[in-house]
Amino acid sequence: MTSIDARDVPADPISRERLAERGLDYRVVAADGDDFLPFYRAIRRGFLDAEPTAEQEENAARTIAERRMIGVFGPAAEPGAMPVATIDSWVTPLTLPGAAGRPGALPELEMWAISGVTVASTHRRRGIARALLEGELRAASAAGLAIAGLTVTESTIYGRYGFGMAVPVENIAIETKRAGWIGPATDVTLAYVERPRLVEVLGELHERVRTQRPGNVGGFPFRWETIAGTAPGSTDGAKTRGVIARDAAGEIRGALVFVLSEGAHHAHHVLDVRHLVAETPDARAALWRFAIEHDLVGTVKADLQPVDDALPWLVTDPRAVERTVFDHGWLRVLDVPRVLRARGYAADADATVTVRDDLGIADGTWRVAITGGAAAVTPDEGAADVELGVSELSSVVVGGVSLGSLAAAGRVTGDAAAIAALDAALRSGPAPHLSIWY
Ligand SMILES: CC(C)(COP(=O)(O)OP(=O)(O)OC[C@H]1O[C@@H](n2cnc3c(N)ncnc32)[C@H](O)[C@@H]1OP(=O)(O)O)[C@@H](O)C(=O)NCCC(=O)NCCS
Repeated sequence: MTSIDARDVPADPISRERLAERGLDYRVVAADGDDFLPFYRAIRRGFLDAEPTAEQEENAARTIAERRMIGVFGPAAEPGAMPVATIDSWVTPLTLPGAAGRPGALPELEMWAISGVTVASTHRRRGIARALLEGELRAASAAGLAIAGLTVTESTIYGRYGFGMAVPVENIAIETKRAGWIGPATDVTLAYVERPRLVEVLGELHERVRTQRPGNVGGFPFRWETIAGTAPGSTDGAKTRGVIARDAAGEIRGALVFVLSEGAHHAHHVLDVRHLVAETPDARAALWRFAIEHDLVGTVKADLQPVDDALPWLVTDPRAVERTVFDHGWLRVLDVPRVLRARGYAADADATVTVRDDLGIADGTWRVAITGGAAAVTPDEGAADVELGVSELSSVVVGGVSLGSLAAAGRVTGDAAAIAALDAALRSGPAPHLSIWY
């Protein structure tokens, strides 16, 4: 569905000018130019990774080079010098909630995905990240994107730019000896699979599964190579194992990628789930069972699981499943009418909504009239029933965060009945889920 190539989108002139005033050169980095390897090395430095090997450099040319890359270069940058700041972006589909009572494929919207945000420690806290992020949002909006998204190292950084925590997930630890499997018997069969094949299977499954829940985004080969441990420089590639789940007809319906390490003693290994993907509840149950009943394993750990997963209902002792909510997917609305029109709704509502946006991209007042699962959104001059910032709107827009909770926290104001009606309309049946880092 992606129609915009982010690499065709020019560098934002306002950020370029702001940074130029400080003697910094903000520019697009070409994948085939001299700046590319220094750009890649700077990203690794920013995320505290080692200098890349030749093999990793070669691989990078195949992966992040497909993205739009922006580097900020110091005043006296020698040719081949590393940029002092980096950011990269690409356009990918984001799954949105569907209308209640209408089964079938969920709607999608193109999203400006952002990654690789780093500022050199020598240049921190002087506004460079702000210029980078604001530049991305202006560029994405000018290019016609209605929403942007990212996953974050720290949850305190991005609210100020209008991003909202939108897709919570659960990080899980299971005490296997206590859990006790009581899940259904299935006709799913499991088989180990070699890692190169696993990379293919993960990509294929994700492409089918990402449209089942709002909040998920398109995958990319490097993600599957990292998870399967085949990416160059993988530290535990040789320890990474994969199991696929087939249904009675022999179709692949799920996969589990994991690494085993010794825990307190040999009979108490830790099974670290690197990825669990399933197209059917049966495949998911069979893969959980495989992990929980694995010999010599005392603890199963799994990050990025859906908050409404069946797992606690598949075991005798739900307290054996320790669940920690984690703020994983962050979104940023750029075009309010387009986002609200693109998704489906769970209930009817009719309210005038004012959205504030310090960047002036998504602010305005609209009448939002929701009937039969769809919203009509029209500019409105009247008094608002509901007022909120773009960060709060972005938090609720795929149905993973309650508008009522934000109102209770004083972050959304207005008429209580209008807030309650909108809250009910915005909810999503299946909880949103984002199954990967990007
Ligand atoms: C996070 C990072 C990009 C910030 O860069 P920076 O240029 O120092 O940030 P800025 O000077 O533009 O700061 C912009 C705002 O963010 C705030 N901020 C910056 N880093 C922050 C952090 N780690 N936690 C909380 N707030 C932060 C600043 O206080 C400032 O706030 P204000 O504008 O409201 O006054 C940089 O510290 C970094 O590269 N960190 C390591 C890599 C990383 O975590 N990247 C994020 C990937 S998701």
